[in-house]
Amino acid sequence: MSDGSESASGDGKMDRGRRRFLRITGAIGVVWIGAAAYPFYKYISPRPAKDPFGPEGRAVVKKVSPADVAVAGTGANGSYGERGCIVFRTASGELRALDAKCTHAGCNVNFGGDKITCHCHGGVYDLLGKNVSGPPPRPLTPLRVVEEGGLLYVSPVTPETEV
Ligand code: FES
Repeated sequence: MSDGSESASGDGKMDRGRRRFLRITGAIGVVWIGAAAYPFYKYISPRPAKDPFGPEGRAVVKKVSPADVAVAGTGANGSYGERGCIVFRTASGELRALDAKCTHAGCNVNFGGDKITCHCHGGVYDLLGKNVSGPPPRPLTPLRVVEEGGLLYVSPVTPETEV
């Protein structure tokens, strides 16, 4: 024969078992949601900007050699760090470099002899990087460029290195 206390004891065991199951399921759910959400969080969270010049304060120019810009009026698109740049020699023989990121919407600009153009929306800059027509709101970022050991190096323009 069973009395009410056996039934209550059986219900208690069942409640404990149910609670344990819910706790374990909840913990697994929290871990699963965390594991699923972390990559999304990493994707949408802003990454700290990487210093393209590194600890030396300068970066080697890739894809443009000194020979590519040896003649007045020549220029080419290259890169430094993970950014694009243009390096060119003016008609008067001065070696110059500018960050290639258009200040309108970020397309890469191109050297065009006597001007710098952006193919995306027709922006035009002069050879100092000043925005002269089209939608770009600001000048291009100037870079200091030097030739050393058969390579070109760019560094930020500071008041001490102002071109
Ligand atoms: S991105 Fe260069 S003009 Fe729009």
